Order: sequence, then C-alpha cells, then structure tokens
Amino acid sequence: MLHQKTFKEDILNWFEANQRAMPWRETTNPYYIWISEIMLQQTQVKTVIDYYHRFTERFPTVEDLSEAKQDEVLKYWEGLGYYSRARNFHTAIQEVAAEYNGKVPDNPEKFEKLKGVGPYTKAAVMSIAFDLPLPTVDGNVFRVWSRLNNDFSDTAKQSTRKAFESELLPYVETKAGQFNQAMMELGALICTPKSPLCLFCPVQSHCDAFNEGTVEELPVKTKKIKKKTIQQECFVIKNENNEYLIEQRQAKLLNGMWEFPMFEKGSSQEKLEALLGSNINLPAKAAYQLKHQFTHLTWNINVYVLPKTVQSNQINANEHYCWMDLKDRNQFNFPASMHKILNHLESQNTQN
Ligand code: ADE
Repeated sequence: MLHQKTFKEDILNWFEANQRAMPWRETTNPYYIWISEIMLQQTQVKTVIDYYHRFTERFPTVEDLSEAKQDEVLKYWEGLGYYSRARNFHTAIQEVAAEYNGKVPDNPEKFEKLKGVGPYTKAAVMSIAFDLPLPTVDGNVFRVWSRLNNDFSDTAKQSTRKAFESELLPYVETKAGQFNQAMMELGALICTPKSPLCLFCPVQSHCDAFNEGTVEELPVKTKKIKKKTIQQECFVIKNENNEYLIEQRQAKLLNGMWEFPMFEKGSSQEKLEALLGSNINLPAKAAYQLKHQFTHLTWNINVYVLPKTVQSNQINANEHYCWMDLKDRNQFNFPASMHKILNHLESQNTQN
C-alpha cells in the first residue's frame, strides 16, 4: 500500500523536474486550459500543440469563439478527428458567453452542466485552472493507479472509475492541478502501456505491481468494442464548369463536415437517381477503394467516378449540396477519407 505523503512528494518532485513544456502549462486562463483538455482527449500532446496555437490565435477569447460559425470552428479542428468534441465545446462556450458573461464558471456543479463536459473534463479544468480538489481519471491514471495498487479491477466499469476517484481524493486536497498532471505525465512518459520504464520510475518504491511482478498484466480492461463495418459507395460527380458536387453531412457522425455524395451500399442507385435523374450512367466498377477507421466503426468506401459531366442546373439538390472547384477545397471541412479522394483528383489534374 502507498504511503500517501511521500508518494505525493515523490511524484510532484519528479513532475517539477521532468514535465514536458506545453503551451497550456504557461497559462492560468481556464478557457485555454479547457481547449487543451478537449484537444488532448484521444489525441497526443505533440499533435495537439500546433492545433492549440492556431485555435487560440484565431479565437483568443470566449467571446471570439462564441461568435464564430461552426464551419470555421470545425476548420480549425480539421485533422484532429472526433469532431463532436469541437461541436460540443463550441456550444458550451456559447453557453458560457450567454449565461456566465463569458467567464468560465469555477463551480464544478455549474461547469459540468455545460455541453460535452464529463467527469474527466470537469476534474481536469477545475483542478488545473482553479486548483479545486477533483482527481482526473483518464486512461493514463487508470493504468498508473491500477499498477501502484496492484489492482485487478476492470477499468471499463463505471464502479472502478468511482472507486479510483474516491481513492485519489485525499491526494488532491492541495496542489490538485499539479498532482493530476503529474499522474498523467507519469503515465505518458514512464508508466507506459507497453514496456514501462520501471527502472527510471520516481515512485517505483510505492508500486505494488512492481513488487509483485505484475506490471505488464495491468490495467485490466475487459470491454471489447465490437467494430461494425459499413460498406459505403461514394460518387465523384463533375459539372460542365469542372466543379465537383459535395454535400454537408447531416448525420450525427462527422456532422457538419463535407463529403462527396456517399450512400450505404444497396441504397445508392435510388438516391443517386433522386439526385441526378434516372438517365444516369453508373460505372460498373469502383475506381478505387478506401478504408476509414473510427473508434466503433469501419467504413469501406468504394469510390465511383462518373464518366460524364452533369449539368449543374439539372440536379435535384437541396441546400446541403454545393459545387466546388478543386482549388477551393481549403474553404471546406473534409474528414480524412475525403482528403484522400481530393488528393487523388488533384494528382490526376496535374498529370493531365
Ligand atoms: N493529458 C491530458 N491532459 C493532460 C495534462 N494536462 N497533462 C498531461 N497529460 C495530459
């Protein structure tokens, strides 16, 4: 079992001396800390840094972000993935502007009611920005804490998160932000998922799993995500002006991002006819295939290139469609899979 006081001293001393420089560690502005914590969910520090700089330069205050259009916010998120993070954060910031006069609430009960704020974000922002005594339990902390206590509880269970949060509570009575970040930093730099650097670990003497030789068996995580695969058919359609037809997604997944018209296999013919009329010539074969992985889902995308141009005034498109010149691609938000198609079209254009 851990010795609370010396454990905390040891990990804080290590953190002081070894923490990586990160721009959000140079500020106490809760809005900036919040941005960083949202970006850091599912994304590594080294990727986040550039995005963080660009985002905070374009939207330096709560007011700037609350007044921005969703399209522009997504543009600054493009490439980070998990776009619902950006949409929810944008909504939450509009709530802060409207209800709290642009000041991020320093009350956890109020803060957690904002859109997209779960237990991790609440604890991270409240502890790092305001030093409030809430422990952050993210993937790093699950791993570090399981190992320190040689605890084989299933970290996929809500009850384990609750237990860890209450076990960690005594450690965040003071210096909560520093302690939380030290735990996460230890998980990122030393107590890594594979081949942890136990010989360099500043809290090795406190680690029950190290003593028992069980470090590599921990943490336990039983829940396996069953990944569904969806067969998609995507259509590259050009008009008489050399522009391509694109559509802004209305579905929950990648909502607000743009794509070449894409339908689930089996429904394409009907939907394309509704869009283009019944006299269209569909190519018999896909030009090429793409794969795109999400956390819970895989898309297998067959890309079809329509051989003939379509008259722009003959299509039956609603306001979610538009024609785009390839040179204007940067004015739209595209997910990774669509960038591959765009790159392919660009490379063809330069060859011709
Ligand atoms: N992961 C997410 N937020 C972090 C932080 N503030 N420090 C270290 N790792 C993190």
